[in-house]
Amino acid sequence: MSLDRRIDTALHQAISGAQGPLVPPQLGAALPYAVFPGGARIRPTILLSVAQACGDDRPEIADSAAAALELIHCASLVHDDLPAFDDADLRRGKPTLHRAFGEPLAVLAGDSLIVLAFDVLARAGGAAPDRALRLVSTLARRTGSPFGICAGQAWEAEPQVNLSAYHQAKTGALFIAATQMGAIAAGHDPEPWEDLGARIGEAFQVADDLKDALETSETTGKPSGQDAAHQRPSAVQSMGVEGAVRYMKDILGGAIASIPSCPGEARLAQMVLAYARKMTEMPVSVAGK
Ligand code: IPE
Ligand code: IPE
Ligand code: MG
Ligand code: MG
Repeated sequence: MSLDRRIDTALHQAISGAQGPLVPPQLGAALPYAVFPGGARIRPTILLSVAQACGDDRPEIADSAAAALELIHCASLVHDDLPAFDDADLRRGKPTLHRAFGEPLAVLAGDSLIVLAFDVLARAGGAAPDRALRLVSTLARRTGSPFGICAGQAWEAEPQVNLSAYHQAKTGALFIAATQMGAIAAGHDPEPWEDLGARIGEAFQVADDLKDALETSETTGKPSGQDAAHQRPSAVQSMGVEGAVRYMKDILGGAIASIPSCPGEARLAQMVLAYARKMTEMPVSVAGK
C-alpha cells in the first residue's frame, strides 16, 4: 500500500473513532472538516519513510503514529487560525474552521483532535506497549512545553523573540517527532534521528516564511503576507529573501549527511533529496539566486 493510502486510511479510522450518536452534530462535522482533505501530509510521510528505512516490522503501529502526528498538526492549524492567533480566513483552500463553524467549535475541535491523537497511540499499545508508551511521550514532548508547539506559539506573546528557538518549537518540533516516532514505531532508538527532523523542520519553516512573503493565497491555499501583517518574526524579516533562500539551502545540505545508519539509508536519502528539491522550488524571481 502507498504511504498516502496508509495515512489516509489511518486518519479515517481515527476520526471515525471520535464519532457516535452522542456527539453533537456540529462537532461531529468539524472534526473531519479539520482533517480532510489534507494538505501535503508531509509529517506522517516522513514518519512512515523513516519507519520503512528502519524495517517497518510493525506497520500497524507506524500507521497509528502517523495518524496521531497528523491529528496534532491539524489541531495546531485550527488553533493557529483563530482570531487570538493569526485570525486567518482561509486554510487548505477553504474557510478556516472557526469561519465555517464559529470560534467555540474551533477551540473544541482542536482540543478533541489533540486528545484523539493520544488515544490513537494508547489503542495501538496492545500489540507493543513499550513502543506505544515511547510514542506517547515523544509526541507529548513535541506538542506542549518546553519543547513543543505550545512553547513555540507562546514566543509570539513575547516582546523579544529568539527566531531559532521560536521556529524550532513552533514547527521543528513536529518534524523531530516525525523522524523519532518513525524510528520508535519500528523498534529503533529515536535519539540519533533528532538532528534530521530538526534540520528538515527548520528548512520547512524558512520555506513557509518565503512562501508567505512571495506567493499568493491562490497557490498556498491560505492567506499570504501574514508575517508582515502581524509583525511576526520570520526568516525573511531577519535575513531578507536572498539570505533566507541561502540559509534554507545550507540547512538542507546538511540534512542528508545527518541520516543515521539504518537498513534503508540510501532510499531515505533519495527521498530527503527529492523533498529538498521540492522545498527549494521558489517563485521565478528568487529561484535563480
Ligand atoms: C503549515 O504546515 C504550518 C507550518 C508549520 C508552517 P503545512 O504546510 O505542512 O500544512 P499542510 O498540512 O500541508 O496544510
Ligand atoms: C503555524 O505557523 C505553526 C503552527 C500551527 C504551530 P504559521 O502561522 O506561520 O503557519 P501558517 O502560515 O498559518 O500555515
Ligand atoms: Mg501562526
Ligand atoms: Mg498561521
